[in-house]
Parts: sequence; C-alpha cells; structure tokens
Amino acid sequence: TWTMLNIVEEQVEAIRAQVGEGRAICALSGGVDSAVAAAIVQRAIGDRLTCVYVDHGMMRLGETDQVRRDFEEVFDELDVVDAADQFVDALAGVTEPEEKRKIIGREFIRTFEAAQARVFADLVPTSGEGETAYLVQGTLYPDVVESGGGAGTSTIKSHHNVGGLPDDLTFALVEPLRVLFKDEVRAVGEQLGLPSTMVWRQPFPGPGLGIRIIGEVTRERLDLLRQADAIAREELTRAGLDRDIWQMPVVLLADVHSVGVQGDGRTYGHPVVIRPVTSEDAMTADWARLPFDVLERISTRITNEVEAVNRVVLDVTSKPPGTIEWE
Ligand code: XMP
Repeated sequence: TWTMLNIVEEQVEAIRAQVGEGRAICALSGGVDSAVAAAIVQRAIGDRLTCVYVDHGMMRLGETDQVRRDFEEVFDELDVVDAADQFVDALAGVTEPEEKRKIIGREFIRTFEAAQARVFADLVPTSGEGETAYLVQGTLYPDVVESGGGAGTSTIKSHHNVGGLPDDLTFALVEPLRVLFKDEVRAVGEQLGLPSTMVWRQPFPGPGLGIRIIGEVTRERLDLLRQADAIAREELTRAGLDRDIWQMPVVLLADVHSVGVQGDGRTYGHPVVIRPVTSEDAMTADWARLPFDVLERISTRITNEVEAVNRVVLDVTSKPPGTIEWE
C-alpha cells in the first residue's frame, strides 16, 4: 500500500543510490517543505547532509529562536548564519516590492554560496558522471507539474563567485518530495517525528516581514511590526483558530499616518492591516470571517500595546483580485 512509511523508505533507498558517498547541502527556510525534504535526506545519508538556515532578520517575534531549537533537535549538521545586518542594510532606501525581493534573493544566494564554499571546499569535482555535491530541494508534485518537469535528475551549476568552491563543481538536485502533495508532506513530517511547530507551520514568505512593511524596511519598523504581528498571532492561537485559516499576514503601512485619540491626547500613528485568509493552495483565497470578538481583542491589544500604531484595519479582499501579501 501507498503509505507515508513506504514513501519515506522508497525515497531513502533512492537517495542512497543517487548520492552514494557524496555530500549534500540543504537550505532550510523555516517552512515545512525544506524541513521534511532534509529530514528524509538525513535519514538516507546521515551527517553527510549539512543544513543551512540563514537568519535574514525579518522573521517574526521569537521565530528564529523557535526554528533554531526545532532544527537543532532534528538535524545533526546545522549551520545557522546570522545575516540580519547584511540583509537589512542592503534594503536601505528600497520601497518597490520586486526590488525588495530581488535584493533579498541576491543576499540569500550570496550567503548560501558562502556556506556551500565552507561545506564543499575540499571536494574534488568529477566531470560528468558521479557528482559528489548534492543540493536538496523541497520541490512538491504541484511545482513539478506546473513547470512541466519530467524525471528528477538535473544538474545545476553553482554560481560560485564567492571563492572557496572548487572550479566547475556542479550540483545534482535531490528532490525527495517530488511525488508528494502538501498534506502528504505534513503526514511524512509527522511520520518522521518532526516537531509539530515545524509540521503545522502556516506558510510564511521567504522575504519575511520585509514584504509586509509597505515602504522602506528599517530595524525600527521591523520591531513595530513584530510586536503587532505577535499579538495578532497570539489571539488567533488563543481562539483555537490556527488550523482554520491558511495564514494571517499583518501589514504595517509605514508611510501612512492617521490621527487618533488616546487618553487626553491626539495621536498621529501608523495603521496596521490584518489579512486573515482561507485557502487550499494559495492560488486563490477568501478573506476569513474571524469572529468579531477575536478581531476586537486583536485591535484593542495592538493599539494599547504597540505605541506607534493607533489604528487596526481588516482586509476583506479575496484573491483574486487581491493577493494574499500586500507586496
Ligand atoms: P500572494 O501574495 O502571491 O502569495 O497571494 C501566495 C503565497 O505565497 C507566499 N509568498 C511568497 N513566498 N517568497 C515566498 O517564499 C515570496 O516572495 C512570496 N510572496 C508571497 C504568500 O505568503 C502566500 O502564502
């Protein structure tokens, strides 16, 4: 029968056959796909897999610590790279969403390549057959179909402009999730005994809070948004609604001010938008009908506890025409 256990065993065998005595590297995003892919590969080749987690400084409150704890528990060879300053500095003055994504992507590649150089520095490249360097990716079946991809062995060149990597080293891709849908990935994750914070994590964009600050990304704004977002998530969890919604971005309109009143004083602060959605696959989404009392608690607490925020706005736009993220 086609059980999750079979799938894991089958993939472990296939990876052992593919990788042989080679070594693999995997970039962990904090999300479930890369984590489950890496866990399967580790089961196959043990500490010849190195996992790399890049902290880009735009995660939510406490998230990097949580991710680090989870990962340290699961992965033997873990390289946590603190690149927060590098990313935030690179984003200075940038407001255009695709420009932000480009910069974040570029910094990520730089950081990951430096990690590759550390891990693979002593590898001798073999030309043609029998690569020794492998790159693990959490590609799912729907991604394979969407990109019209066939069988799963492709070789990609490393960009290596970093130095430290052998010349002409090529990476072969290892994609143990190519046969799976998202819900099956979660089932495999549970099968492998991964922490539920990992397995049931809601989707979170790679660029993180960087694309939830409308306007320039600064440390101060990141801190503000982290506080507001933490309150919203806490209240959602308290209401027991985490698994009912797909995700709930909290967005800081950093360049907008509105007038308010608090105590006996006029305030002139920022609005935050909360964007709870339901969805099956993020291709389409509906705005989630959160209970009014939950919305009220979120609003009251954010405006009381986050000083620079004096207004909470609910996004009632479906996708299409809106996207889930504001940028
Ligand atoms: P949109 O905003 O396009 O988002 O409706 C659909 C899903 O994708 C996530 N998302 C991203 N994930 N890098 C990512 O890894 C990105 O640049 C990015 N932009 C959006 C979003 O959170 C939602 O789950």
